Amino acid sequence: MKEEIININDVSFAYSKQDVVKNITLTIHKGEFVGLIGPNGSGKTTLLKIMLGLLEPNKGSVKLFDKPIKKFKDWSKIGYVPQKATNIDKNFPATVQEIVLMGLLSTKKIPKIITQKDNQKIQNALELTNITNLSKARITDLSGGQQQRALIAKALVSNPLIILLDEPTTGVDQKTQENFYKLLAKLNKKGITIVLVTHDIGRITRNVTKVASINQKLTFFGNHKEFCAKDKNHPHEHTLCIHGE
Ligand SMILES: Nc1ncnc2c1ncn2[C@@H]1O[C@H](COP(=O)(O)OP(=O)(O)O)[C@@H](O)[C@H]1O
Ligand SMILES: [Mg+2]
Repeated sequence: MKEEIININDVSFAYSKQDVVKNITLTIHKGEFVGLIGPNGSGKTTLLKIMLGLLEPNKGSVKLFDKPIKKFKDWSKIGYVPQKATNIDKNFPATVQEIVLMGLLSTKKIPKIITQKDNQKIQNALELTNITNLSKARITDLSGGQQQRALIAKALVSNPLIILLDEPTTGVDQKTQENFYKLLAKLNKKGITIVLVTHDIGRITRNVTKVASINQKLTFFGNHKEFCAKDKNHPHEHTLCIHGE
């Protein structure tokens, strides 16, 4: 059995009275590419935040790398691209390089000295996401797709073993999206575990190895093939499932 990266056991969460995540149990193993799908408001972002320890479940337990989340410290192993990550200061826009650097600083203790090795890591992340030529550009001057790449480079710079992305293709055009999915497939081939959240199942990549479908509860969790077999009973056709896959 492959190493368990994220293990969620019977987790429920409520912001106020009503549970928005209910009795969810699932395990994500090393090397998987999980598509986490569900309609708007179904609890996807909430579940991701629970996985990242940003929200504490009211019930159930979370383990990261086989450790109870409260004991887990190695956050550089985890890369996160939050939903609507366009939290960009329009008056003092950072350069791409500076944004990627932030992904390293958050893992450092004070004093946050930048070493030659760090610079190399930044270069690698820029190369991997194909934005080396944009390193000095201001983030505000970039297209949506380029900004997205910069934020992924930031999430990748600490060499994480898993990267979680919350609706990263919202508002980007078809071509950018396809390139983006190619990039994710490339990262996954390198052994990086991926959790990709989207409400738009028609647009999810066919590179996913597993599909987790939630609507407060987990309504489906299994491999791509099983998902598409089940999907045959539905009138709408998903990109995920065309070509008889
Ligand atoms: N900070 C919050 N406070 C109160 N309710 C919230 C908060 N964030 C999300 N919700 C509610 O929780 C439910 C699930 O939200 P969310 O996890 O963001 O869903 P999704 O990402 O699938 O769209 C929604 O009904 C949403 O309105
Ligand atoms: Mg969301």
